[in-house]
Amino acid sequence: NGKYLVSLIEGDGIGPEISQSVKDIYKAASVPIDWEPIDVTPILKDGRTAIPDAAIESIQKNFIALKGPLATPVGKGHVSLNLTLRRTFNLFANVRPCKSIAGYKTPYDDVNTVLIRENTEGEYSGIEHVVVDGVVQSIKLITREASERVLRYAFQYAQDTGKTKVRVVHKATIMKMSDGLFLSTARDVAKDFPDIEFDAELLDNACLKITTDPAPYADKLLVMPNLYGDILSDMCAGLIGGLGLTPSGNIGDECSIFEAVHGSAPDIAGKGLANPTALLLSSIMMLRHMGLNEHATKIETAIFKTLADGKALTGDLGGKAKTHEYAQAIIDNLQ
Ligand code: IPM
Ligand code: MN
Repeated sequence: NGKYLVSLIEGDGIGPEISQSVKDIYKAASVPIDWEPIDVTPILKDGRTAIPDAAIESIQKNFIALKGPLATPVGKGHVSLNLTLRRTFNLFANVRPCKSIAGYKTPYDDVNTVLIRENTEGEYSGIEHVVVDGVVQSIKLITREASERVLRYAFQYAQDTGKTKVRVVHKATIMKMSDGLFLSTARDVAKDFPDIEFDAELLDNACLKITTDPAPYADKLLVMPNLYGDILSDMCAGLIGGLGLTPSGNIGDECSIFEAVHGSAPDIAGKGLANPTALLLSSIMMLRHMGLNEHATKIETAIFKTLADGKALTGDLGGKAKTHEYAQAIIDNLQ
């Protein structure tokens, strides 16, 4: 029927409600997408957390998925499903644009950076063991191969999206070998992108500087190892209004999964109070990735208009609107 099929992981907690908003808005905007809902309730395969085969097949067939929040157990239990998805599909780059929303006031109004984090290794290697009682070791794994892959993607992304500078954020003063390898790989990759300026900054300094004045980061794309990207992207999200407003995409060679990074908010689940903006903006990234640019811009414009006129904001943004009322306001603003 000439439509794209997209695998949809609605997620836990508020996931189904915010997914419904996306579906309603896409329908109203005549986006040529049919959703294929998939269940990712984890199974155990050879003693490891795994995604059910049907879900894997759906994503492999459709090449693309949109994902709501999945609860992650702390300190024990199965390996995070979020991580399992990234690993299963080798989604090596996690792209997190962070841009002030004109209509939504925070103490900062000029944030406009893109963070790309390596998404498969680093402290997220999952390699941990007890050495002796009271002593544990967690392995931070950095390989040239994974570093080069995400760095090439980052330079290319900068070139394609008009960022003129790529900056590696690192801590090679301390992690001399692992971050040192990431940094030296970046220097090599930079040679293949002569039009992009390349430099590097220590992670702690980057935190200090960007929270003091984000403006100098507006022409930059920041690329970094996994855990630094996890932390710095939440910090930057805080500058523009929180995780309810920031999109993200996990990119692989074959498939990609676009997801809201916030939690499943079990305390408000099922009450119609959730803010679907992060999932919506992630879906906009997805549309652009699929080449559906006109639909992307149309919906994005309606979202920003709705946030700016402030008449139908959800509770987290200081409003009184229910999730479906906010979605309806976006639909009314489509043109
Ligand atoms: C994120 C999340 C995940 C991470 C969690 C849910 C495993 O915080 O996408 O940033 O740590 O990467
Ligand atoms: Mn995170």
